Amino acid sequence: MIGIIGAMRIEVEALKEAMKNVTVETVSGVEFIRGTLCGKEVVVAQCGIGKVFAAICAQTMILKYKPTCVINTGVAGTLTSELGILNLAISTAVVQHDMDTSAIGDPVGLISGINKVELPASKPLCDRLAEAADRMGLKHREGVIASGDLFVNDPTKKAWITETFGAIACEMEGAAVGHVCYVNGVDFAILRAISDNASGEADMEYPEMAAKAAKLSQALLCDVIEHL
Ligand code: ADE
Repeated sequence: MIGIIGAMRIEVEALKEAMKNVTVETVSGVEFIRGTLCGKEVVVAQCGIGKVFAAICAQTMILKYKPTCVINTGVAGTLTSELGILNLAISTAVVQHDMDTSAIGDPVGLISGINKVELPASKPLCDRLAEAADRMGLKHREGVIASGDLFVNDPTKKAWITETFGAIACEMEGAAVGHVCYVNGVDFAILRAISDNASGEADMEYPEMAAKAAKLSQALLCDVIEHL
């Protein structure tokens, strides 16, 4: 069973439409849609926006459906000139850019207890995502994906996240999914299509590009699942 999480309706609706033999259960306020996608067992959930909703969803999914891996699909702001709108970011690792206990001597982004800033994504899974992007002729980069409870739309903040974490894309859930998967020993990957430049005009770019970008990410995911 493969677990798939998206934050918003536009980030999961194409997957839900393509699923067969569907059963639906609501747990902790999250709807889990279980069924087959391209003949593979999957469970898909729309978690809601932000790290807490993402964590609730990932933990519930893991306990209830025991997925072998969890993939977080959706959209992101770009943090690199190498990724433009509708290009794809694939995680090598995730960081929480709004986790900050530096005032008491820790590195910015350190997750206390785990004592790590970066949590590594599954390399085999990310390789499959990159192969699928190549098959589909979609430009992509692999790198660190930075999450926080903030829609980034400011050049200074963008530069800070980029420089502090060496991240290639910013969004609001991936690192929470990664954190939950990490503590549960479940493989994960984040796949995000770029919807905006996170840099002052994102409030204009995002409404126009988000649905298109979300569709792209789902199309790639379908291709990956078909080839798994
Ligand atoms: N998701 C899509 N674009 C984003 C941005 N600029 N900041 C945070 N999350 C996003």
